Amino acid sequence: MSETTLDGRVAIVTGGARGIGLAVARTLHARGASVIIADNGVAIDGSGADPAVAAAAVAALGDRAVAWNDDVSSPGAGAAMVALAVERFGAVDIVVNNAAILRDALIFKGRPEDFDRVLRVDLHAPFALIAAATAAMRDQIKAGRAPGGIVNMVSSAGLIGNFGQSAYASAKAGLLGLTRVVAMDMARAGVRCNAVAPFAATRVTESIRPANDSQVRYRARALRIPADHVARLVAFLVSAGNTFTGQVFGVRGREVFLFSQPRVAATVVAGTPDRQDETAYASALASAFGPHLTDLATDLERFDTEPEL
Ligand SMILES: NC(=O)c1ccc[n+]([C@@H]2O[C@H](COP(=O)([O-])OP(=O)(O)OC[C@H]3O[C@@H](n4cnc5c(N)ncnc54)[C@H](O)[C@@H]3O)[C@@H](O)[C@H]2O)c1
Repeated sequence: MSETTLDGRVAIVTGGARGIGLAVARTLHARGASVIIADNGVAIDGSGADPAVAAAAVAALGDRAVAWNDDVSSPGAGAAMVALAVERFGAVDIVVNNAAILRDALIFKGRPEDFDRVLRVDLHAPFALIAAATAAMRDQIKAGRAPGGIVNMVSSAGLIGNFGQSAYASAKAGLLGLTRVVAMDMARAGVRCNAVAPFAATRVTESIRPANDSQVRYRARALRIPADHVARLVAFLVSAGNTFTGQVFGVRGREVFLFSQPRVAATVVAGTPDRQDETAYASALASAFGPHLTDLATDLERFDTEPEL
């Protein structure tokens, strides 16, 4: 197999019927993969459902594409998607966890039921799909099939934060932890697992209601960024040519970012608690940590620059 072709590979792309997921499904398919498009056609907040959305995406791809139009967070969904891939195409090599919903509210107005729903779709569903898929992948690989790859779509909101996105940011930050552990658990099998924080024009970008100048600029720029750049990075990360695993990337037009990950930035060795030298303790923390503190700029402010298109 050449380094970039995906001939004969089998992919599951959740949320693959619209936006970034559709661009990913198209690119994987164009490179030779068979694709399960798992999408129930819901609104951005997860309400409603429309099976015609996945059906239309599959019809546009033609051969080697099958729709699965249930809710990816429903009980048994992960196993069902993997079973469909195996039944229709004989294996599962690639998983792209891209489906997500948003239910934003400033923290003091947050509703537990919204937090639960976002966590179910954006974090629990990826776990369940990866758990089912990796079990199948290990068996296939032991039987001689080449390993594939897993990509989890995260967000700069989960890496950096943004006002009102407690549920979404918590889910996406959780997905980073999941990505790291899957990369570790599947390293011996040769299956790579990475996270991608995308920036692209989709219905979600269109729905941004700017609350300040930074958001006005962010929205206008984002609406100019094609999702194909995200798809290109994902296709590379799941191809035989990729050796990266457990990493967090970003992609915004022609810019591809590698994000750093939290590691100890500074250390203080304090006196023992019984000495009660709390003033010295506070000043040791302030002087050692002061230069390394992370500011509270939002992700929109952090990416307040012109994208390369
Ligand atoms: N658009 C951006 O710039 C941007 C920025 C940061 C992160 N992301 C992430 O990229 C991914 C794709 O975002 P998008 O902007 O293309 O979103 P989108 O809303 O346009 O597409 C998401 C798709 O997922 C499907 N979906 C949602 N819940 C589902 C469920 N429970 N079961 C099955 N399908 C479901 C929807 O029907 C929809 O087709 C998401 O993970 C999102 O968090 C996007």
